[in-house]
Amino acid sequence: MERLQKVIASSGLTSRRKAESLIKEGKVKVNGKVITELGTKVNTSDEIIVDNKILEKEAKEYYLLNKPRGVITSTSDDKGRKIVTDFINTSARIFPVGRLDYDTTGVLLLTNDGEFANILTHPKNNIEKVYLAKLEGIIKKEQIDQLKKGVLLDEVLVKASRVKLKKVNIDSNTCMVEITIHEGKNHQVKRMFEKVGYHVEKLTRKRLDIFTTENLQSGEYRKLTPKEVQIVYSYKK
Ligand code: URA
Repeated sequence: MERLQKVIASSGLTSRRKAESLIKEGKVKVNGKVITELGTKVNTSDEIIVDNKILEKEAKEYYLLNKPRGVITSTSDDKGRKIVTDFINTSARIFPVGRLDYDTTGVLLLTNDGEFANILTHPKNNIEKVYLAKLEGIIKKEQIDQLKKGVLLDEVLVKASRVKLKKVNIDSNTCMVEITIHEGKNHQVKRMFEKVGYHVEKLTRKRLDIFTTENLQSGEYRKLTPKEVQIVYSYKK
């Protein structure tokens, strides 16, 4: 369910503000009934008529981007920095599903389908995310066990379901660790490693559920297949 003025604005017909005026002026009907209340929520099956014209719904689009470093996961930036939507060639109003930090690379989905995004970000769906972290220092078994037992972030216990030491570089005193988590807290992986005493130098998301960056160079993207979209929808409870 989304707010009526947002749905009208995201169809590309007009701005959010103009949509609000049209609603207040009684020029918007939902399923044949004039709606003048701004907070009204609608869903994708509702018929919306604006100024006697049926609102064409924007076709749903789904993308998988291999996000490069130095890019903001946002649809705008007031400081003029590069944003993830710059990489996707579309006029649809897509937005990122969840967030990766400015310096984090890897799997990022973008879509204009709010329901699809909700399925992948809602904690109840327990979506698996796999990250590869380069750490300053060489992690020990006790710290790996601690990450699996859980660490407190914002007074909530978060656990890694898997932690694997993949590579050790004695010369540079660094190591590569693969970590699997299910939540999506802000800076979660970096904060989890900080909690057990390690600074993350580099971070990449290798996998989000069924999605990986296979065959995609940094900055490249592809459309999801209908089958992939269907798989995500099958998680809806
Ligand atoms: N955890 C982080 O710390 N950063 C990200 O970008 C993603 C997960």
